[in-house]
Amino acid sequence: MEILDNMKKVFEEKFGHPAKRSFFSPGRVNLIGEHTDYNGGHVFPCAISLGTYAVVADRTDDKSRVYSMNLEDKGVVEFPMSGLQYDKAKDWANYPMGVVDVFEKAGHKAAHGFDIVFYGTLPAGAGLSSSASLEVLMSVILEDAFGFGLDMVEMVKLSQKAENQFVGVNCGIMDQFAVGMGKKDCAILLDCNTLDYRYSKIALKDASIVITNTNKPHSLASSAYNVRRAQCEHALNELKEVKPELGALGELSNEEFNKLAGHISEQLERQRARHAVYENNRALEAVQALEDNDIEKFGKLMNESHFSLRDDYDVTGVELDTLAETAWSVPGVIGSRMTGAGFGGSTVSIVKNDAIDTFKKTVAEKYTAKIGYAPSFVVASISDGTHRID
Ligand code: GLA
Repeated sequence: MEILDNMKKVFEEKFGHPAKRSFFSPGRVNLIGEHTDYNGGHVFPCAISLGTYAVVADRTDDKSRVYSMNLEDKGVVEFPMSGLQYDKAKDWANYPMGVVDVFEKAGHKAAHGFDIVFYGTLPAGAGLSSSASLEVLMSVILEDAFGFGLDMVEMVKLSQKAENQFVGVNCGIMDQFAVGMGKKDCAILLDCNTLDYRYSKIALKDASIVITNTNKPHSLASSAYNVRRAQCEHALNELKEVKPELGALGELSNEEFNKLAGHISEQLERQRARHAVYENNRALEAVQALEDNDIEKFGKLMNESHFSLRDDYDVTGVELDTLAETAWSVPGVIGSRMTGAGFGGSTVSIVKNDAIDTFKKTVAEKYTAKIGYAPSFVVASISDGTHRID
């Protein structure tokens, strides 16, 4: 494989000895069920064939050296395998460091360090979970080397913990779960309340999943994300005053929510909670439609998901709205919506294969005219989760 051969060459140049093992970890795209994971609802993501590769060799001491071919100017970063703390100067290496740290704290101490070269094919900032991809990758490298006996769901949870507690980003479980548990040609219906999940085959016949990246340079996603979480939590607490057994917004039907919504005092928080509840139920309805081969209905529910994220949850912005609105106007587009946290990043669209060229052309023209720079496109194939290659 050309990518791995190239990485092995770089490995020898940087470290002066050969790499011994190689790994791949996908990115993810969420088809529907957005901002529901931390509200105890359902998500429906799949792992994609773009992701992060690693070539690895053991060291005999307690130190690791890591190098990213995407961030050459950061050079080789070194860190010890115990007692780690977040270090801003180490930049991207905080992701693998965070995983080493949460493993150690969970009683899975690495007996030695590694030399590792990483290379990612996910566009940065595209909302396709490059950080979760790297975290689960590091988890699998550790488990593979030391045989702690962790299964993938346990590694997924530790990877999320690394992001929450070490890196300090308060994400839900969806990204790490999709990356670790992905399965070729399937999306995962995951109940984020219980972590029950099942695979659902994605057979789109004459259509494909097209990811369109806004290429928006900066976004304030993380602070706005935390505000949404806090608003939903506050709304839930108000609902608990009248329904004490309620554990999460994801437990409510739309009808139950409408009956109770008057107990949420702030209008804005009522909207946020409504999105969480409706989107969860919409995701379940959409999976049912897909499994009934009603792809048109699935697409319509994707569009409704975008409306709700735009109007009630307010996480789209002009870039994502322009992409989605333009997509809706193109014949052969079955559905289109923002995917991931929002504020920038990407949309996911289901497009008839014979309409993909027109879709790209129309969306690129209209988006560039309005926003001032071009979007980019990837036709996604659905991949397996994080694994060792050789
Ligand atoms: C980000 C987070 C996920 C999830 C999505 C929104 O990707 O990392 O946990 O909350 O946003 O659905």
